[in-house]
Amino acid sequence: MSSIFDSYSRLMRFPPVIIRYDRIASTNTEAAEQARRGAPEGVCIVARAQTSGRGRQGRTWASPPDAGLYFSIILRPTVEERWWPLISLIGALAARDALRIVCSVEADIKWPNDLLINGKKICGVLAETVEAEGGRACVLGVGINLRSIGWPTELAASATSVEAETGAVPDGERLLQALINALDAWYALLHTETGPEAIRRAWEHRSSYAFGKRVRVAVEGRTVQGTTRGLEPTGALRLETESGEMLHLYSAEIMELRELETGGDPDSRRSDPG
Ligand code: BTN
Repeated sequence: MSSIFDSYSRLMRFPPVIIRYDRIASTNTEAAEQARRGAPEGVCIVARAQTSGRGRQGRTWASPPDAGLYFSIILRPTVEERWWPLISLIGALAARDALRIVCSVEADIKWPNDLLINGKKICGVLAETVEAEGGRACVLGVGINLRSIGWPTELAASATSVEAETGAVPDGERLLQALINALDAWYALLHTETGPEAIRRAWEHRSSYAFGKRVRVAVEGRTVQGTTRGLEPTGALRLETESGEMLHLYSAEIMELRELETGGDPDSRRSDPG
């Protein structure tokens, strides 16, 4: 069976330039700053630690030294803007590929782009648009938990790391290279005619949240419960509410109802581990 990896040698889009820091506030913030100043597509910012790591929905991303892969890349997509939401899905697909290839770890994708193992988070993705010199750019940030060290104690129950899952400290450098290769391939695919549809299907195939998952979500100040019904072509999650309404979610925090019944509380997660 052919896979996305068979196409790696044909589908390359940017030569990566990696800029490394021992410590930085946030790789996403630095990448955005460089994009604003005109840095080209493919510039990657990698740090051993972040002092103000940022997560989705305004949360912080705890980033202790050498406990995670903290990575951001500048992208300057030339596809129509309606496809841009797929970039954050690509982040999750690429991180999932890298974890599988380098660490033999199989992660589930929770919409839109959290990677989970047995319900615990191992990776998060933060995609941001930047009004930059040379046009609007996108910064795609990925945080992968390598080791469960230095985390805030309250997160131990909801997070995991490669070391915790495999018993071995992963080779961060190999994981970084695999992540960049996978990102490059998925991103090149996005720029083909059938790419958006292929990305949507690939995401649906790799996520247990795509179809038939009962979830609760806060939307525009109200909390609704419903069942997931796959993705819209542009990456929005279709949620059929209990009253039969079909919502299209672009940005929200969903919570599996089974988790809620067993004591999980989406609002209690003030920060995510890095
Ligand atoms: C989330 O799940 O909330 C997204 C977390 C994204 C964290 C990464 S770590 C590298 C990059 N720099 C940041 O400040 N955030 C992202």
